[in-house]
Amino acid sequence: MTGETRVLLVVAGGIAAYKALELIRRLREQSIRVRCILTRSGAEFVTPLSLSALTEDKVYGELFSLTDEAEMGHIQLSRDADLMVVAPATADLIAKMAQGHADDLASTTLLATDKEILIAPAMNVRMWDHPATQANIATLQERGVALVGPNEGDMACGEFGYGRMAEPHEIVAAVLSALGREPRSTAGGGPLAGRSALITSGPTHEAIDPVRYIANRSSGKQGHAIARALSGLGAKTTLVTGPTQLQDPSGMDVIHIESAQQMLAACENALPADIAVCAAAVADWRVASQSNRKIKKTGSDGIDSGVPKLELTPNPDILASLSQRGNDRPGLVVGFAAETEDVIRQATQKRARKACDWIVANDVSPESGTFGGADNTVHVIDAQGVDSWARMDKSDVAQRLAERIADHFNGGLTAPAPAPL
Ligand SMILES: Cc1cc2nc3c(=O)[nH]c(=O)nc-3n(C[C@H](O)[C@H](O)[C@H](O)COP(=O)(O)O)c2cc1C
Repeated sequence: MTGETRVLLVVAGGIAAYKALELIRRLREQSIRVRCILTRSGAEFVTPLSLSALTEDKVYGELFSLTDEAEMGHIQLSRDADLMVVAPATADLIAKMAQGHADDLASTTLLATDKEILIAPAMNVRMWDHPATQANIATLQERGVALVGPNEGDMACGEFGYGRMAEPHEIVAAVLSALGREPRSTAGGGPLAGRSALITSGPTHEAIDPVRYIANRSSGKQGHAIARALSGLGAKTTLVTGPTQLQDPSGMDVIHIESAQQMLAACENALPADIAVCAAAVADWRVASQSNRKIKKTGSDGIDSGVPKLELTPNPDILASLSQRGNDRPGLVVGFAAETEDVIRQATQKRARKACDWIVANDVSPESGTFGGADNTVHVIDAQGVDSWARMDKSDVAQRLAERIADHFNGGLTAPAPAPL
């Protein structure tokens, strides 16, 4: 394993271990050599033979193995790698790492390593939320261990919440970022290699006074997922995001803003870009004159000041502004239309009004569960017509949209993402 970038991948005993197979395949596409340590529990979920076939290498499992220790000792295993990745990282292995246990090959190597460690936790939402796990994660992060995910979504156990392992393409982006390598573009792969993408995500907050603001229910999940998917296909990605509860995706520039005016300025700064996807829920209006001081209910005389009258003024229209720029207009501008009724007709009109190339229309009526939820039902509207997609997870919507964008630039030649293993 000399002369190449090398990852030592620990596969622990979680239901997400099957995704380690796709992760290895994707890392190898990036010309990264992978060697595996499989925990005893991990071997209940994936076989050493599958890992060995995909890595084209021996799979290590036992600490007290005469042959393994002679050929490749546990210290040498990590010395020989540029980065250690744990995917899936079980609650148990995370606890062992935090406590410094060394009772099997995986935990011993993780304790003995002098290399950076990236973990992709995967577990039931209650296990993830448990104060013990959260304390262990905080300890590891304090020690410099990098984290990718977990994501929110439906889980194999039938529950919903945080705990689902990050998708393989997200882990690859985090690996490349930890290794200081550009995602895919410099590795020569990826249908969007050499392209740049600007994505807006989340809500905007429009201040009324220093403590109050006007906001909306956007969670940023869809926009963040699109940024990750475009980055995963090789685009050099800039994410401009309003305030959300989400972790910053790795492997891209993330710019945090609060108001629509700040979002527009950040977008203009990020130009030129080949692709712009405006998924943020930008407030249409802001308060015409923000107060520098907290608006009081009572005056200095203690008398009720009455209900303040808030005059609103329109915010800049970021989608229209990017769509109608001159020389530095992005080659493809994609907007989102959040509608509560007559979704396709409203979105078609919006596409014409804004002069963007595509509109992704979604139903955000309260009964749809789209705002804040994990799934989305979308219709992609372009000059040719309407392409309606079945309801799917937001990360699948993002992946499909990113592939459609890659097709647009490559004349329909982008291979679809591999089916999940
Ligand atoms: C069917 C099944 C699925 C499991 N899935 C997970 C999981 O997703 N995440 C987790 O932290 N533990 C999970 N566990 C529990 C771990 O396998 C158990 O804690 C084990 O000791 C982990 O060992 P390891 O960390 O050395 O691989 C699961 C157990 C079973 C039986």
